[in-house]
Amino acid sequence: MTAVPRHLLPDTAVIGSDGRLVVGGCDVAALARSTGTPVFIYDEEHLRRRCREAVAAFGEGNVVYAAKAFLCRAMARLAVEEGLCLDVATGGELHVALSAGVPAGRLVLHGNNKSDAELRAALTAGVRHVVVDSDDEIDRIERLVASGLPAPRVQVRVTPGVYVHTHEYISTGQDDSKFGFNLRTGAARAAIARVVASPATRFAGIHCHIGSNVFAVANFVDAAAAMVDLAREVGAPEVTLGGGLGVAYVGDEQAPSITEWARHLDAATAALPAGTVVLVEPGRSIVAGAAITVYEVGTVKHIEGVRTYVAVDGGMSDNPRPVLYGSGYEAFVPDRAAADRTREVRIVGKHCESGDVLVSEAMVPADLAVGDLLATPVTGAYGHSMASTYNKVPRPPVVFVRDGEARTVVRRETLDDLVRLDEDGEPIAWRP
Ligand SMILES: Cc1ncc(COP(=O)(O)O)c(C=O)c1O
Repeated sequence: MTAVPRHLLPDTAVIGSDGRLVVGGCDVAALARSTGTPVFIYDEEHLRRRCREAVAAFGEGNVVYAAKAFLCRAMARLAVEEGLCLDVATGGELHVALSAGVPAGRLVLHGNNKSDAELRAALTAGVRHVVVDSDDEIDRIERLVASGLPAPRVQVRVTPGVYVHTHEYISTGQDDSKFGFNLRTGAARAAIARVVASPATRFAGIHCHIGSNVFAVANFVDAAAAMVDLAREVGAPEVTLGGGLGVAYVGDEQAPSITEWARHLDAATAALPAGTVVLVEPGRSIVAGAAITVYEVGTVKHIEGVRTYVAVDGGMSDNPRPVLYGSGYEAFVPDRAAADRTREVRIVGKHCESGDVLVSEAMVPADLAVGDLLATPVTGAYGHSMASTYNKVPRPPVVFVRDGEARTVVRRETLDDLVRLDEDGEPIAWRP
């Protein structure tokens, strides 16, 4: 197999005549040697271009970045600078966004089981709207408003009964789903009627999100058609069509661009009454391709007649996607990025699980050796945000690169961080 496919690398990536990968004007291998490994390196220009592409395609104010894909304060600020709103799905994401200085009016609260505390925080801050997911949640909002909090604008999450071509764990629009109100059974119409009638909620519109990493535009078009019919029927001022646009992770994958996605959604929503606002919530398609993760090879173990294992200094703790969804990745050596990859190996992490696989069948240069750096591209979404400290492996830092400058936006976790929450058996006054 040939060198790593160019379309999997961040926008500003250049492979020099010496074969070294440069992103954002920074030599990736030299940078990784100085930060230590593993490290997430994000191309800031790539992030900004995807945000601008989305705003150009859907309109200022209509793009809500799904922060679950990758969130830290620098990312929240970048998204807002580029004109995006943010979808926060928990009180924790809400806290990070607010602490980054994101105006509450640019925030959308999501979640299928929002607590009183999360709803109270969102209503107190004055978020743009809340996407309600259950009758129990509407009960909670009614109680909070009765206690003196302002009535929020509310979109009703609808499960439109659309089955998508993606992993079942990230498919959310089908009838059998924990998310939203079912359209077919009448639950969605009943919830909308309740929100319209309740003095505690101001009906802002309807919402759907059919799943993540979806490549088939037809799936989005089907969902949009169902939402358009419902929006006309109930007079929804706003319709959110979710995120979910897929990205290419491996060489033979091609995904629609954000602009193409918008073109299809635009056509699919043409029958909406004039003035209806259409919003989208892209996460992965904004951030996935912006980052690469750089590891160092610690062991190369050849098992005669079986395979070769290459173990790196991270693994399922910084990228759980292969374990969760069987996701594929490519790998390459950043200081020999143009090298032909002719040797098949299995890239594994350092965790105590046989399932700790990063790339099941990776092609790497034949001379890959202990001490080499090894990079996986397209790790900007659901990698850092899903990272854990399993086996007490500290989480890697996040570095943004741009115009030859590199800056740390999330520092590496330290060994001290790993014991920061431990207590010496503080007594709990649990008796009534
Ligand atoms: C409600 C909602 N909106 C948007 C997204 C973002 O999806 P993606 O990252 O696939 O664009 C998600 C992710 O699951 C979601 O649950």
